[in-house]
Amino acid sequence: MMTAEKSLKRFGQLYGSSMAMETLYRQLERVATTDATVLLEGESGTGKELIAQTLHAASRRADRHFVAVNCGAIPAHLIEAALFGHEKGSFTGAVRQQSGYFEHASGGTLFLDEITEMPCDMQVKLLRVLESGSFHRVGGSEPVGVDVRLIAATNRSLQRAVQEGRLRQDLMYRLAVFPIRVPPLRERDRDIELLACHFLQSLNAEAGTAKHFSRQALTALRSYGWPGNVRELKNLVHRAYILATDVVQIEQPAARSAGPPILSNGTLSFPVGTALADAQRELIMATLNHFRGNKRLTASALGISVKTLYNRLKEY
Ligand SMILES: Nc1ncnc2c1ncn2[C@@H]1O[C@H](COP(=O)(O)OP(=O)(O)O)[C@@H](O)[C@H]1O
Ligand SMILES: [Mg+2]
Repeated sequence: MMTAEKSLKRFGQLYGSSMAMETLYRQLERVATTDATVLLEGESGTGKELIAQTLHAASRRADRHFVAVNCGAIPAHLIEAALFGHEKGSFTGAVRQQSGYFEHASGGTLFLDEITEMPCDMQVKLLRVLESGSFHRVGGSEPVGVDVRLIAATNRSLQRAVQEGRLRQDLMYRLAVFPIRVPPLRERDRDIELLACHFLQSLNAEAGTAKHFSRQALTALRSYGWPGNVRELKNLVHRAYILATDVVQIEQPAARSAGPPILSNGTLSFPVGTALADAQRELIMATLNHFRGNKRLTASALGISVKTLYNRLKEY
């Protein structure tokens, strides 16, 4: 059994001993106690939301709410009311006044995830709110003062998002008072094994078990590229843990990284008798890939709601 915990460094709930993580801890330590807006740029599963929570927990706002909002999961026409709330009677169905995420997070931290998915006109409004320090509820005439620390995140390249017109440059500059690039797991080589052992240890502690990795499992962990980053690693360890009685095995990475069966002309093919759930997953992932990760386009092509798409992706 590896004794990983001894060499495993941490900052709050964040674990990792790589140089990249140590640099990150130092940045977080500096910025946590300020009210500066932080902009996190990193692939999906690298820990952006956990970093946002960690910043909140280490700030003077820790005893107030941390509110996480996924900008890509809220339909465009509802996002303004979701963020800023609405007054009674401001639209059909608005039977009473309702506060939005900005008010829920008052005194605390608001985490705007997938900021590049926010519609452009909302980005204009958000910028105005940040600059004026107040907003109006939908249908409201009285300004409401803002007291939130804002953390925004994206899994796209910020530069490209601006070039492609998904993120307004003026908003980007306003958000990026303190930009942090969150490194993918493949650049944190040292952390893969340490994190795997940490996750296994947590599962053991929770259930009072003493399962441990086989030697091959550790080799397999090292020789894989982790496109899904820490999330993929954590889920993989969890699955292997459940399957193991005593020795935790990890499948050969080749079997896992085979990818969906996409033919060159952009069609998918599966053998007759493929489990519906598997076919559905392949179709969703291939479509997402086709639309370069754009969830709105993917959901609309698949004829499902963005929320349903999110739920599926979460499962995967
Ligand atoms: N450095 C880390 N230490 C421990 N757990 C981590 C770390 N980074 C990510 N995780 C875990 O991996 C999963 C994905 O992290 P999350 O913050 O949701 O990523 P992102 O928002 O970048 O997609 C979560 O379960 C999170 O707790
Ligand atoms: Mg996330």
